[in-house]
Amino acid sequence: MDTRKKASLKEYNTFGIDVQALDLTSVTSVPELQRILQEKDPSELFIIGGGSNMLLTQNIDKYAVHINMKGYAIVDLPCGENEILLKVAGGENWHDFVLYCIDNNYGGVENLSLIPGNVGTAPIQNIGAYGVELKDVFYECEAVSRADGTLKTFSLKDCMFGYRDSVFKTTLKDQYVITSVTFRLTTKEHTIKTAYGAIATTLQEQKIVAPTIKNVSDAVIKIRQAKLPDPKKIGNSGSFFKNPVISTTDFSELYKKYPEIPHYPVGSDQIKVPGGWLIEQAGFKGKRYGDAGVHDKQALVLVNHGNATGEEIWDLALRIQEEVKTKFGLVIIPEVNVF
Ligand code: EPU
Repeated sequence: MDTRKKASLKEYNTFGIDVQALDLTSVTSVPELQRILQEKDPSELFIIGGGSNMLLTQNIDKYAVHINMKGYAIVDLPCGENEILLKVAGGENWHDFVLYCIDNNYGGVENLSLIPGNVGTAPIQNIGAYGVELKDVFYECEAVSRADGTLKTFSLKDCMFGYRDSVFKTTLKDQYVITSVTFRLTTKEHTIKTAYGAIATTLQEQKIVAPTIKNVSDAVIKIRQAKLPDPKKIGNSGSFFKNPVISTTDFSELYKKYPEIPHYPVGSDQIKVPGGWLIEQAGFKGKRYGDAGVHDKQALVLVNHGNATGEEIWDLALRIQEEVKTKFGLVIIPEVNVF
């Protein structure tokens, strides 16, 4: 277990914000994590996974713990003929895990290629992209209680997954650290999901008629690289806001005024409106204020062009939120956690 005093968190958050924590310890096993949790009060600790869903606006007056357990194991429990249960340590990088699955011909996560972050943080907001959400391949996860260090298993039902949502964001917020996730993946006949428009178009362009999971992964990588900034080159946290979901009644009012508004039904009585469209219409797409900016190809993504502070990015976020509220009467809520 390695501990550094007065540590910069710049390398540990994908926005690349340079703030300090009291110290930083990297834990590579569950017992190491449990030891820290038993020694310190939960309120003194700041847990970091992939750092891809946080905006740090000030120094963190806490002891940072980097979740860095690695490894893969096949779980020997009954599952379908065409299935495998794969347990993955929480500190594995999400995209490395996706590539591991493609290499081993395990299907299910190919649409989730190139999402920043770690395996252990993926369930918290039920990451999703291109027609697939983590919940579709989730079997169970293990998590350590921050209060007493005990290890608990959470089933699919326990996690109460919703759009960018789970029990770890609501009733159990900040109460557990996820140390491993077990996925239910296919081994032979994969269910290829190309319904999301851009995937089908990309495959057609390449004249691929019977796509493999690798083809789908490659297509998603291509689409994401064209639209979303690479955090290694330009600091960002993916979508900064969630897409607002509103009632059909509220939507019909908006539609009268903006008949061109893109929209997607959610169940029978709600409509999801792309936040990226709202932000673009409010005039922010590609705008830059110092080093804080809005990505020029996807307005839902805020970026750090170099040396922006977390506060500058947060000020911009608030300004965008305000403008969208004034123009459309809709409140867009940040998806990232702001500290
Ligand atoms: N749009 C605009 N302008 C923009 C961006 C989007 O008009 O600048 C409109 C377009 O009509 C476009 C529609 O919004 O067709 C949807 O855009 P996109 O396909 O990029 O999807 P999104 O709803 O903006 C969500 C996820 C992304 C995920 C994509 C693809 C959320 C908050 N975000 O974005 O997730 O990659 O779908 O499935 O649900 C992330 O969470 O970090 C993330 C990148």
